[in-house]
Amino acid sequence: MKALVTGATSGIGKCIAESLHRRGWELVLTGRNEKVLKELQKKFGEGTEIIKAELSERNEVFKVYEFCKDKNIDMLVNNAGYGIFGKFDETDLNDELDMIDVNITALHILTKLFLRDFKKQNSGFILNVASVAGFMTGPLLSSYYASKNYVLRLSLAIAEELRRERSNVTITVLCPGPVNTNFNNRAGVNFSAKPISPEYAAEYALKKLFQGKCLAVPSLTAKACAFGQRFVPHRLLSAITYNVQYAKKTADGKSRAVEK
Ligand SMILES: NC(=O)c1ccc[n+]([C@@H]2O[C@H](COP(=O)([O-])OP(=O)(O)OC[C@H]3O[C@@H](n4cnc5c(N)ncnc54)[C@H](OP(=O)(O)O)[C@@H]3O)[C@@H](O)[C@H]2O)c1
Repeated sequence: MKALVTGATSGIGKCIAESLHRRGWELVLTGRNEKVLKELQKKFGEGTEIIKAELSERNEVFKVYEFCKDKNIDMLVNNAGYGIFGKFDETDLNDELDMIDVNITALHILTKLFLRDFKKQNSGFILNVASVAGFMTGPLLSSYYASKNYVLRLSLAIAEELRRERSNVTITVLCPGPVNTNFNNRAGVNFSAKPISPEYAAEYALKKLFQGKCLAVPSLTAKACAFGQRFVPHRLLSAITYNVQYAKKTADGKSRAVEK
């Protein structure tokens, strides 16, 4: 069995790759950090292939697909993603468009192309990494939350189409709360709640995937947010999320992400 993992160089993606390797899976790993990709290839040994790709570039996304097309991939893990912190009118437009290209467009392209291949063979797993943010509105991290809403809704819609067709292909969407990875550094914020480990997030996601579940929400806090938000009026929910995000600003009272 062989899996393609995006964002495999760090955090949740790296842990998913490690867990799949322990289970005997062969791997195709992608990310931008070639040094880490080569280290992982050496560590996992035979059966591991790497492809460096900048997923904000559409042609690079297609390059990853072309690289994998004839390799009999059984699992696609769309994990690469990041967030940009700040008020919507203050965050950099191009940075944000790149983020949308990674979080949404790359995931959309790979999901469609691999889903078509998986349906032809009537087998295959897709694991899309969204976030508990996918259930909510996220002032101060607005486009990130919106991007994860897209990932969650797209994945659940595909899951229903597959269920109606009684397909053997499955799609699982992982929706964690805070996870202890490089994510916050990149977004320029601190944690305001206790994070879970990326190892736990990865194991939980794969457990749900192999059980054929479409939704994987690790940790009680994330579950409470995901399901509790249904009963909270929109304005109150936005006010709560604003306060949670505001508390993530760095100690000097400014977000590193919006500093120039
Ligand atoms: N950490 C959290 O609190 C949390 C919570 C919920 C959901 N998530 C989601 O979990 C996923 C993984 O994030 P993480 O927490 O593990 O963060 P991370 O440690 O920063 O890992 C992000 C991964 O995405 C890759 N990536 C980022 N930008 C890329 C680009 N332009 N092109 C190609 N690859 C790119 C990175 O690889 P390179 O640096 O090598 O490019 C890295 O492997 C993301 O989708 C994130 O939204 C995280």
